[in-house]
Order: sequence, then C-alpha cells, then structure tokens
Amino acid sequence: MAKTILITGASSGIGRATAVYFAERGWNVAATMREPVKADSVLQHPQISILALDVTNADSIAQAIAATLTRYKKIDVLLNNAGYGLFGPIEAIDGQQIQQQFATNLFGLIGVTQQILPVMRGSGEGLILNVSSIIGRMALPYASSYIATKFAVEGLSESMRYELEPFNIRVKMIEPGSINTEFGKGSKQMAVSDPYRASMAKFLAVFTKSNAAGAKPEEVAKVIYRAANDSSNRLRYLAKPGPFFWMNRFLPDAVWRQLLVKAMVK
Ligand SMILES: NC(=O)c1ccc[n+]([C@@H]2O[C@H](COP(=O)([O-])OP(=O)(O)OC[C@H]3O[C@@H](n4cnc5c(N)ncnc54)[C@H](OP(=O)(O)O)[C@@H]3O)[C@@H](O)[C@H]2O)c1
Repeated sequence: MAKTILITGASSGIGRATAVYFAERGWNVAATMREPVKADSVLQHPQISILALDVTNADSIAQAIAATLTRYKKIDVLLNNAGYGLFGPIEAIDGQQIQQQFATNLFGLIGVTQQILPVMRGSGEGLILNVSSIIGRMALPYASSYIATKFAVEGLSESMRYELEPFNIRVKMIEPGSINTEFGKGSKQMAVSDPYRASMAKFLAVFTKSNAAGAKPEEVAKVIYRAANDSSNRLRYLAKPGPFFWMNRFLPDAVWRQLLVKAMVK
C-alpha cells in the first residue's frame, strides 16, 4: 500500500519540490498550503491532493488532517516545512513581527504536530520531519528572530524524539543550506536606518547572492525522501550545507568571527 505524507507550505520552494518528488515515487501526498487556488500546475498529479492549511489556524490544520485521512486512511510522514524569514537588526524589529515569525515557524509547527500525534499514536507508528536550517545550528547577523525560531525547532525536535520513541514515532530534522527558492520573496525585511543601514545592505547582498546561487529545492527533496525511507533513528540530515557551515564548525571561533564580520558586517 502506498505511504502518505502531509506537507505544509507546499505552494512553493522545498515543499512543492518535495510534493512532486514523493508523488513521482508512488507516495500519496497531501500538499497543503494557505491558498490552494494559487497551486502551481506541477502539483496537478494523480497522487497529490491539494488542501488548505494555514499553520497559524488550528481549524484549518484539523480540516486538512481530516481530509487527508478520509482520502488516504493514514498519515505516515508529516513534513513541517512552512516558514519564512524575518530580517533586520534586532533593535529595529517590530515586536508584532517577531510574534508573527514565531507564530508561523515555531508555534505553527507545534500546532500541526500536536494535532497529528494522536493520529500517529492511533496507527502505532509515524515519522515527523521538521525543516530546520544550517542556521538552526549556527547564527548569522540580521536574522536573529528567524534564527531563534530555527534554534528552537532544533531543541524541540531533539526533545520530542525521546518522548515519542515509546510510541514508535520518530522525529528527524532536515537542515538545508542556501537553496534557490521563493524564500526571499516570502521573507519580511524591516526598514533600516543608520547606524545599521550600510552593514545590513552588505549582509543582504551576500545573503541574496548566496540564495540565488543556491542548490535547487529538488536537492532538498531528495534528502527528505532519504530521511523518510531511512528506518534508522538518525536525527539530523544536512542538505547542501555549503562551505560556511563547515567553516563555522571547524575554524577556531576567533578566525570564524573575523571572517564572518568581514564578509557580512563591515
Ligand atoms: N531557501 C533556503 O535557503 C532555506 C534554507 C534553510 C531552511 N529553509 C526552510 O525551508 C522551508 C521552506 O522554505 P523555502 O525555501 O521553500 O521558501 P518558500 O518557497 O518561500 O516556501 C515557504 C512556504 O511556507 C509557506 N508558509 C508561510 N507561512 C505559512 C503559514 N502561515 N501557513 C502555511 N504555510 C505558510 C509559504 O506559503 P505561501 O505561498 O502561502 O506564502 C510557502 O509555501 C522554511 O521552513 C525555511 O525556513 C529554507
């Protein structure tokens, strides 16, 4: 029997590429998104159901899960993928924007997970894949609240994996590096004035260039597929992490800091 994956944020980027990748390999896919009317034509596939789901709306989560179960009877894998970036110096970030960032990237992920857990416990197994980031394990400037959500996803996932083990529900994280998606378009950027203006512009130039030159979202979909089919209890799956990740891990802190500040701050 075909397995079923429910994906959040499947309207673009990594979520959309993963929906297609899994469907082409025979999986049933519940490709959920805030606005199904805007679904890309690549999602028109017999194995894919396009469903409405806003991770900040508990009713829409419940309806999408119910519709998936009606259609496919079981949800084997949940891919918590929905998210966006919030950029700006911490001093300039409006409190409501920070709340909204956490509401989507962290509390939204928790909300979907909480509603899917009784379903997975009921079927005696399940796999939760949380899309974190390499910047869930290392920080960059001017993205502090986005990075805080991803660091939180890392801790949350690691904690959940222990408490869900008795129920045969595994938890894994996918940690992409720079990926060329619609992430820049979906992200929010605070208006910046002096004394941060020039430095933030420098950061954004590097960040935007690195994302444009980033890997294709299909590369992440492949890693997600590997994680979904790997019966081990491995926790982290890097996806195209890039040289910055390795430099951060292996260079002495003073060297790394100097290099980062020179490249992105001043
Ligand atoms: N691109 C990268 O370099 C990169 C690197 C590391 C990690 N990531 C992570 O990968 C994930 C996917 O990002 P992406 O790069 O594929 O960017 P993307 O193309 O902008 O996709 C983000 C998706 O999240 C959805 N979304 C936003 N808020 C939502 C909400 N409240 N409810 C449901 N869906 C919502 C967006 O839907 P709408 O179309 O409705 O806005 C969109 O489908 C994110 O968690 C991101 O943090 C990305």
